[in-house]
Amino acid sequence: MSQLNLFKKKLSGSHLNIIVSVESAVKISDISVYLVGGTVRDILLDRSPSDLDFLIEGNIDLQYFANLIGGTLLQESRFGTFKIDFNGEIVDFAFSRQEIYPSPGQLPVVKKGTFKEDLYRRDFTINSIAIAIGEDGEFSKIIDPFGGQNDVLEKRIKVLHDKSFQDDPTRILRLFRYSGRLCFDIENSTRNILIRDLHMLDVISSDRLTNELYLILNEESASRAFIQYANHDDKMHLFDGAKIELSNFLKMDHQEVQSSKFSQELKFSILALSIPIEMLDTWVKKFNFNSDFLQILDGVFEINNIRGDLLKTNMNNSDLFALMNKINENVLRACLIIEEFSDLKEFIFLYLNKLKNLSVQLSGKDLIKLGITEGPKIGQILHELHVAKLNEMIFSLDDEKEFVQKINKNNS
Ligand code: CTP
Repeated sequence: MSQLNLFKKKLSGSHLNIIVSVESAVKISDISVYLVGGTVRDILLDRSPSDLDFLIEGNIDLQYFANLIGGTLLQESRFGTFKIDFNGEIVDFAFSRQEIYPSPGQLPVVKKGTFKEDLYRRDFTINSIAIAIGEDGEFSKIIDPFGGQNDVLEKRIKVLHDKSFQDDPTRILRLFRYSGRLCFDIENSTRNILIRDLHMLDVISSDRLTNELYLILNEESASRAFIQYANHDDKMHLFDGAKIELSNFLKMDHQEVQSSKFSQELKFSILALSIPIEMLDTWVKKFNFNSDFLQILDGVFEINNIRGDLLKTNMNNSDLFALMNKINENVLRACLIIEEFSDLKEFIFLYLNKLKNLSVQLSGKDLIKLGITEGPKIGQILHELHVAKLNEMIFSLDDEKEFVQKINKNNS
């Protein structure tokens, strides 16, 4: 096995099979195929790539190509990219292209291009390295025109040219995402043009901005990226100069956040709880959040609203339930993690660990069997049962039945 093929040890069996299948198409057609982008970067970093990114040079009919390699052609985009499904594994392919940016922040005009032009249109040198696929899926050579391998070794992120952020300001956010994830430094000249171009973020659409935010929230290292955002806020304007409690961001690293099924939502809740409440409206305008994220922002607003009442009055459990039940649960869990809300902890604990799960055992049908007439009364009694249960006036099924009978008697 050649030295280059040692890199294959980080690829899964299914990825290796896909590479061999792809090579079978190269053999009998007039195309060249390369692995590129994050796949190559991760292989060089001795990490297992999560997906395969192929670049094709030359022309081939997509359906014919998919048949040749034994996959199913999925969607195709106007940017010369397409996806193929290999028994459930979705793989990205792209024809080599060049991009021309009509004006900063706008999507590029895409034209067919050479393989070298395709490497040159990319964001960072560490993402502009290709591995050519040779016979039987062997890695035949590395093509690295911009010194990306050296930058991987030296752990630094460098743009390919000094208009990179002007062409596509989302790369600014990508830079912070990668430097957070890989713990790489920002190369000196890249830092200078970054500082020069930070204000360009203002021109990107809210869809693209939101998409980048979602990607960052998916990262284990999200906190590091947000700290970078805050440190550059004078020009990035994501926090509009507000004073942010940066130590909150580090709470995103907690094991319970990272391993949660709702890790992305929890991190967003921590973020939203850390910005001044007056900024929530600005964020709703600036980003294009999906309904889950809008609910989180509502929850943050609501928890701030009810905070005073919770601390002032001696509420009973059913009142507490009525208030907390309206608030997104990720926001409540995030409040348990960050210091500013420590005064609410006991209420949130009570709600999450006890009240939320207390349900009435009797159903509407049971109530009819117990002699209650069908109609709105049923819902009303079920509600009263729930309130009584929350306030620890009744506990068992027998208590519930007795409670219903008492109501029935009083009403007759
Ligand atoms: N790319 C770019 N500019 C962008 C987005 C992407 O130049 N604004 C290029 C990069 O070369 C990148 C490739 O397109 O490597 C694929 O993009 P993407 O899938 O977003 O990133 P990956 O490299 O696969 O990295 P990740 O591990 O974050 O998925």
